Amino acid sequence: MKSSRIEVIRKADARDVRALAGLLRREMPTELRGLTIYDCHGVENHVLANIDRGAAAPVNYHVAELDGCVAGAIEMKRTEEIQFLQYVAVAPEARGRGVGGRLLAAALSPDVSKLRLHVLETNALARSWYARLGMREVGEVGWWAGCLPAPRRETGFVLLDRAGARAEWMRLGFTQAVVEAHGKRFAVGVLGNDWLRFGAWELVRQAALLAEVDAEWPGRKALVLESGRPPEDCRSRFVQVARAFVMEGELAELQLSALKR
Ligand SMILES: CC(C)(COP(=O)(O)OP(=O)(O)OC[C@H]1O[C@@H](n2cnc3c(N)ncnc32)[C@H](O)[C@@H]1OP(=O)(O)O)[C@@H](O)C(=O)NCCC(=O)NCCS
Repeated sequence: MKSSRIEVIRKADARDVRALAGLLRREMPTELRGLTIYDCHGVENHVLANIDRGAAAPVNYHVAELDGCVAGAIEMKRTEEIQFLQYVAVAPEARGRGVGGRLLAAALSPDVSKLRLHVLETNALARSWYARLGMREVGEVGWWAGCLPAPRRETGFVLLDRAGARAEWMRLGFTQAVVEAHGKRFAVGVLGNDWLRFGAWELVRQAALLAEVDAEWPGRKALVLESGRPPEDCRSRFVQVARAFVMEGELAELQLSALKR
């Protein structure tokens, strides 16, 4: 009987890595999984490296154990201003008994007053769950997939720490490439063997920036996560593959008690 099962909510440790990464991966929509780090071969190394760094890590993990097995996991990212719920998942057989809420309560840091998350438009259950918790929709982000214009070499654009980024990509299957140009830095995510991930339309229009990244990771498609629609010159090359809502809440106002205990 489910009510008699022994449940423990705790910080994740090294022995949880495989089950935790597997659960988060499995519960992601299949059509989008390949556009996340959870489809990359080294995601377990990434999780383990964050667990090993403890409180100093930018990302931390908690798990819910039911009868000794990992049945829920949460990934939280924290900066000084905001905590970001990257993903929470509970195994189907353990849902509907408040495990997700207890994971969230355990993962929230009392020192950072604001919580933010992205939830897919199609995930009605999670959206109403977050709304019940007191989170409000404050914006949206489109996921756009498409192809890049031809790269064009130009002096003044430099891929920083080329060797380090390459080594990380080989170890994890993903990395962040940083290109410096005219005193500014631009970040581009390298995801698996197929994708470059951009956080702004202006980046996919910069042929010289693309040339620096393309020299190291040639022939990739582009994934753009942006609130705005594609600019005129990108419109015919990109299709929207998903839409997420940005939700926010002040910790002091969250109704954690509204979730099942
Ligand atoms: C969203 C999620 C983490 C909630 O975890 P949970 O432990 O089931 O949370 P709760 O027990 O508080 O239930 C939340 C709601 O799920 C629904 N639910 C209840 N029983 C359920 C069951 N057996 N199976 C599926 N959903 C159920 C109900 O709408 C419930 O609301 P209620 O309190 O009014 O009954 C979980 O559904 C999940 O892992 N979903 C897939 C991954 C996902 O979408 N994550 C969020 C990404 S933004």
